Amino acid sequence: NKVVLAYSGGLDTSVIIPWLKENFDCEVIAVVVDVGQEDDFEAIKERAYKTGASKVYIEDAKEEFVNEYIFPTLKAGAIYEGKYLLGTSMARPLIAKKLVNIAKKENADAIAHGATGKGNDQVRFEVTIKVLMPQIKIIAPWRIWNLKSREDELNYLAQKGIDIHFKREESYSTDWNIWHLSHEGLDLEDPCNMPDFDKVLKITKNPFSLSDSPETVEIEFEKGIPVKVNGQKMNGVELLKTLNKIGANHGIGIADIVENRLVGMKSRGVYETPGGTILYYAHRELEYLCLDRATLHFKDMVAIRFAELVYDGLWFSPLREALSVFVDKTQEVVNGTVKLVLYRGNIYSAGLKSPNSLYIKDLATFEEDQMYNQKDAEGFINLFGLPLKVFGMVNRKEDK
Ligand code: ARG
Ligand code: SIN
Repeated sequence: NKVVLAYSGGLDTSVIIPWLKENFDCEVIAVVVDVGQEDDFEAIKERAYKTGASKVYIEDAKEEFVNEYIFPTLKAGAIYEGKYLLGTSMARPLIAKKLVNIAKKENADAIAHGATGKGNDQVRFEVTIKVLMPQIKIIAPWRIWNLKSREDELNYLAQKGIDIHFKREESYSTDWNIWHLSHEGLDLEDPCNMPDFDKVLKITKNPFSLSDSPETVEIEFEKGIPVKVNGQKMNGVELLKTLNKIGANHGIGIADIVENRLVGMKSRGVYETPGGTILYYAHRELEYLCLDRATLHFKDMVAIRFAELVYDGLWFSPLREALSVFVDKTQEVVNGTVKLVLYRGNIYSAGLKSPNSLYIKDLATFEEDQMYNQKDAEGFINLFGLPLKVFGMVNRKEDK
């Protein structure tokens, strides 16, 4: 009997290892997926063995995460409920895919995860496992066991004679990857409370204690994908790390939202997405310059649906894949350079350049020009306004 477990090294998943062995009489293979959380993976590995894992995999998925999940979502301009840049949502399908690959290789009987029965993550893990490995059994200990608190979990470990140190005090429920950090729980559970940024933020500087001067950053895009920062070519992982550092220094990308979870309730989260926020802003600026009106407006509708699909864990769905084909087509003309100024949590545009720019100064100018004949506008307005004119003649006679 073999169970593959999504392991993070935290208290929850550390308790799950002995719990699985006790309740399913199985060997546990712990899988740590490195999506850019800057943890000490050697220490985590050791902890997995200490709690009873028979084998530990550390999978570096950073590049795949950035190129195949983050950039497609960025190109789509997908933002959940107007604020959330989907950092956790995008990572879950990738983690699930890694679990499935290892479950196949190890000929495992089940896959287990540490998400609770009240959240989105259980859905994202499980629907992805269902599409990629339909027959495998899924175990979600949080929906089964009787452990109710941190205290219960620590006591369970002690009772099993497992001697590893976890802090007794409460901390926020946090999820970290190369795109973002999420924080939920404790005082944040009351939307009346403003987050104590000094306490909550882990990588971003508190925007209220910055005295720094503004910083200019220049990003170049090819087909909607960022390829250079300040003139330097970088791969996706390097580029994001660079922008995270720059953005964090200026307090960029803090989002505080009461969001609708897929399982029904509203929950409150605070997110740190420094580099990602810069990239969304820059990419959007370039689209303003390069996309025609009809495409830009239609793409905005697609973005909302795309964000829901990602949030709901439906990354490997036919609709998400089809929408990505549409998005990629629109991005053929999204090339160029965006200069931004960062200052105390804010982003300002400081210059756009593109070989595909549809902005023609002669057309927009108030000076005389050759391309646009103002006399044409009269006929255009006559036909454009004809349906309204008829409606008015028929239905608004009394207005006069
Ligand atoms: N509310 C966010 C989402 O649903 C973040 C979830 C964070 N997950 C976690 N296990 N801490 O995507
Ligand atoms: C969890 O419940 O495991 C974390 C929060 C979420 O998945 O939404």
